Amino acid sequence: MPSVTCSDGPVAVTGASGYIGSHTVAALLRRGYTVHACVTNDADADKTAHLLALASAGGPGKLRIFAADLFKAGSYDGAFTGCAAVLHVGSPLGYAGRYNPRQVYDGAVLGTGNLLDSARQAGTVRRFVYTSSFAAIGHPAPSGHVFTEEDWATDNREGDSRWSEESIDKDGGVAYALAKVATEKQVNRAAEKDGRFDAVSICPCVVLGPLLSRAQEGVGSWQYALARMLEGKPCPRGWQALWNIVDVRDVAEAHVLAAESGVVKPGSRYQLTASGRSGELNIWELQAHLQNLFPDIEVGGPPDEMAEFLKRRGGKTHDGPRAYCTKARQDLGLVTHAIEDTLRATGESMIHLGLLKPAWKA
Ligand SMILES: NC(=O)c1ccc[n+]([C@@H]2O[C@H](COP(=O)([O-])OP(=O)(O)OC[C@H]3O[C@@H](n4cnc5c(N)ncnc54)[C@H](OP(=O)(O)O)[C@@H]3O)[C@@H](O)[C@H]2O)c1
Repeated sequence: MPSVTCSDGPVAVTGASGYIGSHTVAALLRRGYTVHACVTNDADADKTAHLLALASAGGPGKLRIFAADLFKAGSYDGAFTGCAAVLHVGSPLGYAGRYNPRQVYDGAVLGTGNLLDSARQAGTVRRFVYTSSFAAIGHPAPSGHVFTEEDWATDNREGDSRWSEESIDKDGGVAYALAKVATEKQVNRAAEKDGRFDAVSICPCVVLGPLLSRAQEGVGSWQYALARMLEGKPCPRGWQALWNIVDVRDVAEAHVLAAESGVVKPGSRYQLTASGRSGELNIWELQAHLQNLFPDIEVGGPPDEMAEFLKRRGGKTHDGPRAYCTKARQDLGLVTHAIEDTLRATGESMIHLGLLKPAWKA
């Protein structure tokens, strides 16, 4: 399988302004790549200033910014010209209600179709790395089940009335998971048919770590939920189960390693999840970690609904999802951050960017 190096040509990153995309740009620049960073609006300084700052920090790589939109056919033709790899990170997401479930689905499936046309047209692309999600892996399973790359979100869905094409217009969670499954398969089919490029999918779970711009707050995201806890408020999401945490810098690095690797097989997928049990935290463990890392802040915990939830579930939260990024560490040589580093960097960056008002102890 052909690997990519910085002497093979530029590498394009979609969603370059975003949380994972920006770190992916940073990782490429550090290695000396010329990066074609694709943003929806190149005139919006909130989406580009941090990228320009990364490029002017004196590293070896070079940056070019392109405006492109997944919903517009041919939009990426210019950005992909001459590129050796495409790292397709961007996708319309439901944060702050920016996109509805149908747009989330179509933006992934139809949008990636448009993007693949541009990659084929370029004719120089040798590797296509698609940012999928653990949502394309996780499926109904008993507490404690350990997920691997062999699992698909479509498994064990018999009798799950929510899990259908009809839900796409009304259920954001189903629309997102179905979109990620369909898009992974679409990308693999396109690569196989074309023959000039290989496809690899990256499937992150709960992504945390330093934010590089205020525009990465992602209202409703995991980092947004963590920020509320540092404001002393109840955790607004994910308190019913484990937070299976991966560092955004590790997710970014995995994208670059997947482009460069000479050993990954076509159609491979890599779950970017906890490195071990220390990265799988229930809400009380998460709260305790944050309290330890931010001793001057009164950290929030589970919401009031937790008491009723525990009564219904025999006093326990869900022991899942359990999943480890062992394959990424073994195949790609990924070295991961410690959970304390990830949590600290998330909180500190959000305080620094003015995205939360800490609940300082009196
Ligand atoms: N964060 C997580 O916990 C997590 C977990 C699993 C998977 N993922 C996946 O990781 C990827 C990046 O997510 P993120 O967390 O970095 O979110 P993010 O910060 O909101 O980034 C999303 C990016 O998608 C771009 N985008 C949105 N609509 C677009 C459109 N119509 N055309 C082109 N680009 C568009 C945005 O570009 P503009 O800002 O320029 O509009 C933005 O840069 C997504 O595919 C997401 O599904 C994230």
